[in-house]
Amino acid sequence: MNIIEMKDLVFAYEDKTVALKDVNLSIKRGEKVAIVGPNGAGKSTLLNVLAGFRMPFSGKVFVDGKELTQSSADSIRRDIGLIFQDPEDQIFMPTVEEDVAFGPRNLRLDNIDSRVQAALRATGIEQLAKRKLHKLSYGMKKRVAIAGILAMDPKVLLLDEPTSGLDPRARSELVKLLKGMDKTMLIATHDIEAAAEIVDRAIVLNVSIVVEGTMRDIIMKKEVLDQAGLEMPPVSKLFGVLDSMGYPVETLPVSMDQAVAELTKVIEREGRHLHAHVHEHDHTEDAKHAHKHIVPRKGADDART
Ligand SMILES: Nc1ncnc2c1ncn2[C@@H]1O[C@H](COP(=O)(O)OP(=O)(O)OP(=O)(O)O)[C@@H](O)[C@H]1O
Ligand SMILES: [Mg+2]
Repeated sequence: MNIIEMKDLVFAYEDKTVALKDVNLSIKRGEKVAIVGPNGAGKSTLLNVLAGFRMPFSGKVFVDGKELTQSSADSIRRDIGLIFQDPEDQIFMPTVEEDVAFGPRNLRLDNIDSRVQAALRATGIEQLAKRKLHKLSYGMKKRVAIAGILAMDPKVLLLDEPTSGLDPRARSELVKLLKGMDKTMLIATHDIEAAAEIVDRAIVLNVSIVVEGTMRDIIMKKEVLDQAGLEMPPVSKLFGVLDSMGYPVETLPVSMDQAVAELTKVIEREGRHLHAHVHEHDHTEDAKHAHKHIVPRKGADDART
């Protein structure tokens, strides 16, 4: 059974703005999915509906088999942790530790202290525990908001622009944290490099779903990027240049990790070439054998001649 299921969802705000139209979405338990799309595409709205904060105009939403209705909304909110785009909307207690403890305390969960400690550790803000919230920077508040949701250990984590406003180190720590977390996740974001690191699948939303696929599939299609209001990440552009300079790139990397993996392949290929060159005038059986052993790739022998 899918943990999240949306069928023909339509959502309109009170002023008749149709923010979501005919959205069909299935998310498997444990799956990490990105929602990308231009400003005003309905990403935040989609997360708010899923979290039970807004009711569908028509269509159905199921969370862990439970249909979202007025009467089930409260219990669905317990299964889902929504991290808002703006941390100011989420945090309100005087100090960091009180704020992180608020959710679990409200739900009457046990081991509050250890939950709070674990959440502060996971978000790298243990040293801020006693600090006054209103004196923190935006990025710090963002981490507090994330910690507050983690402390409740929801079944599904919905994150609205989690990396926006974070400094590079905080951003990469958050990416690592989300990547390593064994939890169903839906991430609305413009940060495609971060998404490429974290998610299994991406959905391009622009009121309706435009296309689904891996982050790489999406990045390779210019018309999809345009429709999604996204730019190709610099690292992908760089590899496009490498490719045109005669270093064939098998799969265009989207993130730095993927770039390193791709670069390793290019270097290995270069190694094969160099190796072949060194042995050009030494076609002994041993050399052939060594060659095949080092570079067990199709076409290695052709490269040697
Ligand atoms: N409270 C509201 N009342 C009326 N219309 C709203 C409200 N909130 C959002 N909208 C409208 O709904 C549409 C979708 O907005 P939403 O905030 O979901 O987009 P988004 O994809 O999250 O955009 P962004 O990338 O800027 O965060 C927009 O047309 C927006 O103007
Ligand atoms: Mg938004």
